[in-house]
Amino acid sequence: MINVPRGTEDILPEQSKKWQYVEQKLQELASLYNYHEIRTPIFERTELFQRGVGDTTDIVQKEMYTFTDRGGRSLTLRPEGTASVVRSYVENKMHGAPQQPTKLFYFGPMFRYERPQKGRTRQFVQFGIEALGSADPAIDAEVLAFALDCYKSLGLKSLKLVINSLGDMESRTNHRNALIEHFTPHKEELCQDCQNRLEKNPLRVLDCKVDRNHPAMETAPSIMDYLNEYSHTYFEQVKTYLEQMGIDYVVDPNLVRGLDYYNHTAFEIMSDAEGFGAITTLSGGGRYNGLVEELGGPETPGIGFALSIERLLLALDAENINLPFDEAIDCYIAAMGDLAKKEAVKLQLSLRHQGIKTDMDYMDKKMKAQFKAADRLKARYVIVMGEDELNEGKVAIKNMETGEQSDQPLDQVASYLKKAVQGGTENE
Ligand code: HAM
Repeated sequence: MINVPRGTEDILPEQSKKWQYVEQKLQELASLYNYHEIRTPIFERTELFQRGVGDTTDIVQKEMYTFTDRGGRSLTLRPEGTASVVRSYVENKMHGAPQQPTKLFYFGPMFRYERPQKGRTRQFVQFGIEALGSADPAIDAEVLAFALDCYKSLGLKSLKLVINSLGDMESRTNHRNALIEHFTPHKEELCQDCQNRLEKNPLRVLDCKVDRNHPAMETAPSIMDYLNEYSHTYFEQVKTYLEQMGIDYVVDPNLVRGLDYYNHTAFEIMSDAEGFGAITTLSGGGRYNGLVEELGGPETPGIGFALSIERLLLALDAENINLPFDEAIDCYIAAMGDLAKKEAVKLQLSLRHQGIKTDMDYMDKKMKAQFKAADRLKARYVIVMGEDELNEGKVAIKNMETGEQSDQPLDQVASYLKKAVQGGTENE
């Protein structure tokens, strides 16, 4: 037997229904906020992520699925969506479009070679948005509000929005120097990864799981003390807009994201539902002014976020939320005998063409077993087709909820059911 690869999973039909429901909700939300879908390839040139996500990040150093294709090119299964969206934005000159900012959303599988655990898989599906072309703090607040709405619109409540500002280049450089100065005397005591990070990307030391309890962590210089005036004011404005919208947040100056392109606003949404598991981050994002230039475009600000559907579904489970999708079929055709079967096949197609969700028996079952199948499928109506009825040009239709049964001429079944089924939906 061949099993599914480690860190991946099959999404079976029961689970798929939840996925479809959630995906549809998220698309509706995107439409409500006026974001438009972009679809980019699942693999890209490796260089895109090296430059976009950053050479020193864990993602690029340890987690990419990189391969050489038959033409000798180095390609990588995308570990995230932002770099690809920005590549496409530049390549398709979207910055030239009259309507700005460019507001995009995407869905799709991402791949990271991580140690699998609950909420962390090697293939996962992200839903994300990117707003490119505006450096207005109000759009930062829009993206944060959108991110929260993804969960709230599904009924989730145990949510915590954590925000931080990483500042602009000047603020970051000053903070970076302060971090190097602070941690260098402790260098030998830090883990090997942090020793490397200290030189290349000292901000990431703050995010280290191994050294998290080192005393130097607590006294580390906070970015808040290094924000220059522009960055400070920008952050204050983002907070004001959030307050205007009645959105609660917590500022955590140690919130560091795992990707290099961020500056100014950075945020994560966490679940504080009991039993959610060790990984509590539901989604994350932030501003990335500079990424468009890094990937060959004109100076363009940008901000976005992404969530994984896997973690969203875990949060729904943790909060015991049952999604209200309709699994029932409208009609099941129970036919006995060859003649009836021939009529049934014809009737079924015609019902389906008229928008009536219909199924029938393909297992050569007896009448009683066919009724059982109709029950299992939660059929609202069962059409009984026996040879006697058909000889008289009619069928029996049973309402499975009330138990009522009536005879209908064969040629009127569709209009009868259409009225019954659609009338039923109207009353619900
Ligand atoms: P990220 O924080 O690396 O950011 O990932 C965003 C979200 O993807 C996470 O919060 C989590 O929900 C999900 N995720 C990441 N890795 C896994 C995994 N191994 N298994 C399951 N879910 C996972 C980004 O990817 C940025 N591109 C977000 C962004 C968009 N920033 C600006 N625009």
